Amino acid sequence: MPDCRSIGVFDSGLGGLSVVKELICALPGEDIIYFGDTGRVPYGTRSFETIEKYARQDEAFLLSQNVKLIIAACGTVSAVAPHTGRELPVPFIEVVNPAAAAAVKATKSGRIGVIGTTATIKSGSYTKCMKSLNSQIEVIANDCPIFVPLVEAGWIERDNCVTIETAKRYLKPMIDGNVDTLILGCTHYPVLKDIIADIMGDNVVLINTGEQAAITAAQYLFDHDMLGNKSDVGQKHFFVSDRTDSFSHTASILLGSDITGSVERVDIDRIGG
Ligand code: DGL
Repeated sequence: MPDCRSIGVFDSGLGGLSVVKELICALPGEDIIYFGDTGRVPYGTRSFETIEKYARQDEAFLLSQNVKLIIAACGTVSAVAPHTGRELPVPFIEVVNPAAAAAVKATKSGRIGVIGTTATIKSGSYTKCMKSLNSQIEVIANDCPIFVPLVEAGWIERDNCVTIETAKRYLKPMIDGNVDTLILGCTHYPVLKDIIADIMGDNVVLINTGEQAAITAAQYLFDHDMLGNKSDVGQKHFFVSDRTDSFSHTASILLGSDITGSVERVDIDRIGG
């Protein structure tokens, strides 16, 4: 029997839309409920305890919407607090393991770069995961805290000189380290992938966390007979914890369609974790 409940996706802000975009391609008939915690973004500069608390509240909100599966479309939550998702009564997909596995598969030289938020890089999660798959892999990691505010502010054009200069500085260790594969370990970063690709050059494979998580979720739903099997295009509903207008504007650009009428504000502090 088809499972017509929605897929729940959350992030601290806009970044998780990189997962939604890929989900729409892979599973166009599925309904999606997205929560972006725009009132509390960024997560990546916060303590592990705070990230864990926020993750539990975001997951509780999505559960209250009767979703069939939850995707932590947030590298920071996936790296620091994946245990919160494993305790849920619905299946949970995070972004670290799928991206790490894709990077290990893609590398030829064994030199992999990973960029992410400060909390993600500090957790060492990507490195641990890749080394568990292949202990010979060499990992060069760097945190890029200013990328998230740049994306949230909509400074995402390929010729934005502030974003380009910021990216050059953050990516220098990757170029100096001669990586052949680079994990965009925060879901905000695929939004900047053209700028990052221009700097890294054609010979470096970029691993899009959003894409890998969407593939994993689609496979899970297929394997467990949980697809909605709808023939029409799925409904998308977006919730944020602060102003809807700025989110609607940038989200519409990122998703390539006007979502203004489907964005609602929710008081996340009233949701128990
Ligand atoms: N997009 C999130 C991540 O993947 C969160 C970034 C942040 O809020 O700092 O890490």
